[in-house]
Amino acid sequence: MTSQPAEQRAAHKPTNPTPTPRHVGIIMDGNGRWAQNRGLPRLAGHRAGVDNIKRILESSVEFGVEVLSIYAFSTENWRRPPDEVTGLMRLLGLTIQRQLGDLNRNGVKIVHSGRLEGIEPSLQRQVRNALEVTKNNSRIVLNVAFNYGGRAEILDAMRRIMQEGIPPEAVTEELLSHYLYVADLPDPDLIIRTGGEWRLSNFLLWQAAYAEYYQTPTYWPDFNEDELRRALEAYAGRQRRFGGVVAQTINPGNSQSPATSVAQA
Ligand code: IPE
Ligand code: IPE
Ligand code: MG
Repeated sequence: MTSQPAEQRAAHKPTNPTPTPRHVGIIMDGNGRWAQNRGLPRLAGHRAGVDNIKRILESSVEFGVEVLSIYAFSTENWRRPPDEVTGLMRLLGLTIQRQLGDLNRNGVKIVHSGRLEGIEPSLQRQVRNALEVTKNNSRIVLNVAFNYGGRAEILDAMRRIMQEGIPPEAVTEELLSHYLYVADLPDPDLIIRTGGEWRLSNFLLWQAAYAEYYQTPTYWPDFNEDELRRALEAYAGRQRRFGGVVAQTINPGNSQSPATSVAQA
């Protein structure tokens, strides 16, 4: 901490709308349309999208968000033209190569949600290394959903539970949560979708049971700190009842402390 007077520090800090969601999930959509509008190839949009992650990650830290989940590549995105898929895979590799050092120095703990099978072995190694290098960091958890599908996640969890011979009566919601790709993350409080669509596209199906949703037409590369603030303000104005009658501020799925409980499944 610096010895700056509080008012001066406050001038650099974004105003923090309260209550802050502990876990924010972002469906980073609209890269392709962002590029098309500029007469650029879709991959240029994906590159601009990756550049934006850093900016929003930093703002999230400043706003006091503890976990940021970003949807980067879905199990359905393999349906895209091969050139785009290859480009997206390369982009992940390049991003790890270029940004891992900075992310680590900034205290970011990277976790991965998704299937590593099906991804090139060298990229798998890069991902595993990024998790290993940053595993003791605690400033913010960056959960990268890559080759991720919510249905695949629940299926994979069920398969592991069955392989371990766990009896049906022992399979509870809590137990299943331990078998998700990243065990014991708090549930997302807020899911933001950029790019204007009103759908989940297979993102965090299990975890988002009681998440608040926020949608903006802004394409992901243009989604900035002001937009994030607006989303958090909208969240702060919501009444969460979790099936009850009166508003509650505590998400029952949020009882874990992410810095201590996050473990790669
Ligand atoms: C989202 O942007 C990023 C990924 C799915 C990888 P899109 O590529 O879906 O962009 P639009 O929806 O076509 O504009
Ligand atoms: C969702 O975007 C997946 C990611 C952002 C990675 P899509 O562009 O793939 O979603 P759909 O196809 O419009 O539902
Ligand atoms: Mg899209």
